[in-house]
Amino acid sequence: MKWKNNLAEQPVWSGEISNRDRKDEVAQKVSRFVKDGDVIGIGSGSTSFLALEKIAERVAEDRLEILAIPTSKEAEMNCSYYGLTITSLLNHQPDWGFDGADEVDGKQRLIKGRGGALFAEKLVMASAAKTYILVDESKHVEKLGKKFAVPLEVDPRAVHLVETALQTFDCEHVQLRMATAKDGPVLTEAGNVLMDVRFAHIPDTLEKELSAIPGVIETGLFIGYSVEILTV
Ligand code: 5RP
Repeated sequence: MKWKNNLAEQPVWSGEISNRDRKDEVAQKVSRFVKDGDVIGIGSGSTSFLALEKIAERVAEDRLEILAIPTSKEAEMNCSYYGLTITSLLNHQPDWGFDGADEVDGKQRLIKGRGGALFAEKLVMASAAKTYILVDESKHVEKLGKKFAVPLEVDPRAVHLVETALQTFDCEHVQLRMATAKDGPVLTEAGNVLMDVRFAHIPDTLEKELSAIPGVIETGLFIGYSVEILTV
């Protein structure tokens, strides 16, 4: 028996959505790309959530059959709420995907991971032929790392090891992401912690150099992936 959908009264999205009109516009834009039979990587965060809503509307109106590969539990629950058929990277390769970003520079390099879903987001992006990055103008920066630190997903046992290794990098500040002082560190879906690291400069080689530190599961730097930036 199939589970009844829409058990939750609301889709999963916590918090206010800033810049909502702009995000709705870019969400509408990406929904026009959906074709019958597509396998689509579904990003996380507020812009991706709005895009998912618009895509679900198109799927229902045009009776399209698509498969969704969510990049987080939040995205998975939203796909389920909207009645989309969910699959995984074990079974399908995404034809294309969409996702948000925290910063984008002129060379299409991204910082992602404010929502902590960077690991699965990178797996899905690396598997897709193309990913549309949905942003408003406020996400464009002249210099990557200007507003946002680079998040690292780190095995909790490796926090000190990674902190020590970072001393050999040109970094300005390292912070363990905390939920609240009382609740302790934010944990990712895989039970890892996040270290937010500010760098004075972000060369193209940095993503790979950070990934090589033992204990770093993934970085929020996305450099050299097949992306198309959709800006409103
Ligand atoms: C989550 C992400 C998000 O895509 C990024 O934080 C942008 O979020 P929003 O669309 O809410 O501004 O990387 O890990």
